[in-house]
Amino acid sequence: MNIKNVCVLGGSGFVGRHIVHQLARADYHVRVLTRRRERAKDLIVLPTVEVVEANVFDARELARQLTGMDAAINLIGILHGGAGGSPGRARSFEEVHVALPRQVVAACLGEGVPRLLHMSALGANRGGSSAYQRTKGAGEALVLEAGRIARADGRNVAVTVFRPSVIFGPEDTFLNLFAGLVRRFPVVPLANAQARFQPIYVEDVARAYVASLGEPRTFGQAYDLCGPASYTLAELVALVARLVGSHARIVPLGRRFSYLQALALECMPGRKLMTRDNFYSMRTDNVCAGAFPALFGFDPMPLEAVAPGYLQEGMARGRYDGFRRKARR
Ligand SMILES: NC(=O)c1ccc[n+]([C@@H]2O[C@H](COP(=O)([O-])OP(=O)(O)OC[C@H]3O[C@@H](n4cnc5c(N)ncnc54)[C@H](OP(=O)(O)O)[C@@H]3O)[C@@H](O)[C@H]2O)c1
Repeated sequence: MNIKNVCVLGGSGFVGRHIVHQLARADYHVRVLTRRRERAKDLIVLPTVEVVEANVFDARELARQLTGMDAAINLIGILHGGAGGSPGRARSFEEVHVALPRQVVAACLGEGVPRLLHMSALGANRGGSSAYQRTKGAGEALVLEAGRIARADGRNVAVTVFRPSVIFGPEDTFLNLFAGLVRRFPVVPLANAQARFQPIYVEDVARAYVASLGEPRTFGQAYDLCGPASYTLAELVALVARLVGSHARIVPLGRRFSYLQALALECMPGRKLMTRDNFYSMRTDNVCAGAFPALFGFDPMPLEAVAPGYLQEGMARGRYDGFRRKARR
């Protein structure tokens, strides 16, 4: 398959930026769709990348943006679902993880876009414990099914689904969140401390996307993506504390207190650190059953080889910001 023009939905986000940078380096022409163009300043300067403000939930607008594209990559996802239903409200899980992928598939078929990569998540499952997992499960199932039906109908959209465990990298919201907590507080009460994760480096996720774009062996497939090692949440937070030189005491909470902490954090105004839905997601271990897919041609990086660099840099930046605040500059 000859792919040149790639449209990335969600290309301005944490994972999206890394994918877009790698696509640009590999000489693809990339169109990034975003709600706010200024959110993607670092992408605007890339020579083969255009960043376009678009409402991807508008079927006609989405179709227009996909016209003439050789591939679409849908990375749009949310960790906290809103009520949805009307434009002023935060989107619901159902709208973002199910209705939007359905619309993306329809637009690809309608506009003759022959290739679609879809971002799901490890643990996605229509019968899962959380709304996040159930809607991600429904979304990936409909994308794979649409690919099969299209093939049987003689139409042409080759789909690939990716299901990563938690993703780490310089701007992640996972390790950086815990780094902030252990630096600020002497005691950190930790919900779901025994939940297991197998974190994968964001650059490795991006490599898998770029490698699969024109690779026929990945058509119609779904790939679980994990790093080389699994950890309990308590082990990860202890590792982060060690890396940032914190002596914070990590106190694992039992199931009942974990739930209550999630409920309290869900009710707090502002950016949500955790919700009950996240608590339900963590009831299932987030680890891969097998090794990293060999067909991508590389081994994923260990967390210990990457995280010290950016967590310690973040610590230095935090200290510098502290000095500036004190000096009122
Ligand atoms: N990060 C992880 O550990 C992890 C693990 C497994 C799976 N995933 C999946 O990977 C994907 C990317 O995750 P990420 O960490 O990069 O997320 P992110 O940084 O929050 O980026 C999400 C992107 O989706 C777009 N988006 C969010 N809500 C939207 C809405 N209501 N309407 C239109 N666009 C919306 C945002 O675009 P604009 O704001 O620019 O419009 C943003 O570019 C998601 O599907 C996520 O579920 C992530």
